[in-house]
Amino acid sequence: MRAAQRAPFGTVAGEQVEQIELVNEQGMRLKVMNYGATLLELHVPDRNGVLENVVLGFTDLSRYVNDSPYFGATIGRVAGRIRDGRWGDTQLSQNEGAQHIHGGAHNVSHRVWLIETVTDTAVTMSLTLPEGDQGYPGTLTMRVTYALLADNQVSITTTGHSDTQTLFNPTNHSYFNLSGGLKETVSEHCIILAADKVAAVDETKCPTGVLVPVEGSAFDFRKGKTLTQFCVDEPAGLDTPFVLQEDSPSAVIVQDNVSGRQLRVATTAAAVVLFSTTGMNEDYLVNGTRPMCSQLGLAIEPQMLPDAIHHADFGNIVLEANETKGYRSIYTFDTI
Ligand code: GLA
Repeated sequence: MRAAQRAPFGTVAGEQVEQIELVNEQGMRLKVMNYGATLLELHVPDRNGVLENVVLGFTDLSRYVNDSPYFGATIGRVAGRIRDGRWGDTQLSQNEGAQHIHGGAHNVSHRVWLIETVTDTAVTMSLTLPEGDQGYPGTLTMRVTYALLADNQVSITTTGHSDTQTLFNPTNHSYFNLSGGLKETVSEHCIILAADKVAAVDETKCPTGVLVPVEGSAFDFRKGKTLTQFCVDEPAGLDTPFVLQEDSPSAVIVQDNVSGRQLRVATTAAAVVLFSTTGMNEDYLVNGTRPMCSQLGLAIEPQMLPDAIHHADFGNIVLEANETKGYRSIYTFDTI
């Protein structure tokens, strides 16, 4: 196990940002930064042992500040949309039409976090949001720990603690591409989901409150299918909240037959949003090498269902005063 390496990664409004790299005994490498508590790079072996980056990111901090579709970022206080930005009498920041999305206009993805501890295997960062931030009650401290384990597992643990009742539904917004080095899009990756239901969404992509069985629909990924297969029926691709089965060891499995890489995601959260970047042809370069294009990555966002605060059967995202709530997701890499 090599010691963690720390290096400057630029400044934002005069604040120093650092990148931190961890390496395990297999040579797997993880790089994070404290702007947005963001996962920058993840180098994972293919079936021949070749290590390549399997997440989307930028080589330059300014891109994260100005252009990023939340590449690798921590999202909070609340991921996804909250209809009309309303929670009872509380008006939250409305940063996508009438809706509140991904924690508001100045969310935690765009703040410089405090690096609390760095060990050879883990990095912990924290951020304290004042009362009233983005409209939310409660001084909230969020804490994220990225750990790189010996057997090519990454765990991301996110906790929240508030002095007053508030809302808390964080996620990590990494986009994966198992081909390695963005050689291919993710269109032919096989996606297997332990999900029997999806949350129907309206034209603003906000849940309507209806949970729809996947049985007999394009959204049935229980036996596995590719995005190409899915898009025959759903050409707009995935931007979809799935309700996870309670007892399944892997919520999401993604396999790339070409590189042989397999990713299995287990989570303590009750749902996952999959976002397939379908139609996202943009002029910026991803990882300094390839222009962003449709289905270059698959965002896997373990979380409680979006807009849960408005639907009794969507799960509880209320964080009570002086309670600490946490979610943990484990990303296991191996080959098929
Ligand atoms: C989530 C949302 C998408 C989009 C992406 C990031 O997946 O549901 O609509 O906002 O985040 O751009």
